[in-house]
Amino acid sequence: MRRTTVITGASSGIGAEFARRFAQQGDDLVLVARRLDRLESLAADLRGQYSATVTPIALDLTGPRPGAALRARLAEHGLVAGALVNCAGYGRTERFEEADADSVARQIALDVTALTDLTKAFWPDLLGAETGLLINVASLTGYAPMPGMAVYAAAKAFVLSFTEALWAEARGSRLRVLCLSPGPTSSEFYETSGTSTRGVRFQTPEQVVDTAFRALDNDRPTAVSGRLNTLAAALMRTLPRRIVLALAARQAPKPSVSLQ
Ligand SMILES: NC(=O)c1ccc[n+]([C@@H]2O[C@H](COP(=O)([O-])OP(=O)(O)OC[C@H]3O[C@@H](n4cnc5c(N)ncnc54)[C@H](OP(=O)(O)O)[C@@H]3O)[C@@H](O)[C@H]2O)c1
Repeated sequence: MRRTTVITGASSGIGAEFARRFAQQGDDLVLVARRLDRLESLAADLRGQYSATVTPIALDLTGPRPGAALRARLAEHGLVAGALVNCAGYGRTERFEEADADSVARQIALDVTALTDLTKAFWPDLLGAETGLLINVASLTGYAPMPGMAVYAAAKAFVLSFTEALWAEARGSRLRVLCLSPGPTSSEFYETSGTSTRGVRFQTPEQVVDTAFRALDNDRPTAVSGRLNTLAAALMRTLPRRIVLALAARQAPKPSVSLQ
């Protein structure tokens, strides 16, 4: 029987690449994001190329109880999820005093609350599936406190810790769990986050998704994409926190007004 894989953030970047890869390997898909036109055009491509059943669902995941809302939408189509990829994410590069309060709330609502609520709502389906799979997308920034991206990095630290714990809880079941941490990746993310691209070495979404599939083959709880990013994450986990913070602070944007 074909597995139904739910992918959030499928309208662009890494999520869209996950959709292509899971369709290629024979899954049926549920694609979730706010921009329905993007989802429909990707769905049409994937149906044509891979004969997959693809269901696009437009949903703002920052609304109340997005997990129950999305699971109900699947039920309307007679679908039960066998895999969930929590890829939708949003972050801003800005000093905290300059951040817009709505944007701060939206980062937490999407990156933390929605990801957790979706995982909770679909967990029984994933546990009960023949080949259950959960992939939560964190970030290299989740490995350290990041002045200038304080909320986003803290949100991704939550995703990392939460998902590693779930990996351990799922041991002994058929469900596989992975926390995927991309470094800088070419997508729409840098545009929406307002992050400078000067001197940044980007990976492609294809490389990031390759990393995820390799890590799943090796049954690892976490994977950082890219060799230099993997090394940076390892250093951030082993160096004393004060040194990590001092290094991160050197990259941070300076205040636009005096803080005195
Ligand atoms: N690109 C990077 O350098 C990088 C590095 C580390 C981690 N990541 C993480 O990788 C994941 C994918 O990012 P990406 O690089 O592919 O960025 P992207 O191209 O900006 O994609 C973000 C996706 O999230 C969806 N989304 C945003 N707000 C949403 C909402 N309120 N409700 C539902 N969907 C929403 C967007 O779709 P709509 O706008 O259509 O809703 C889009 O499909 C994110 O979790 C990001 O934090 C990215």
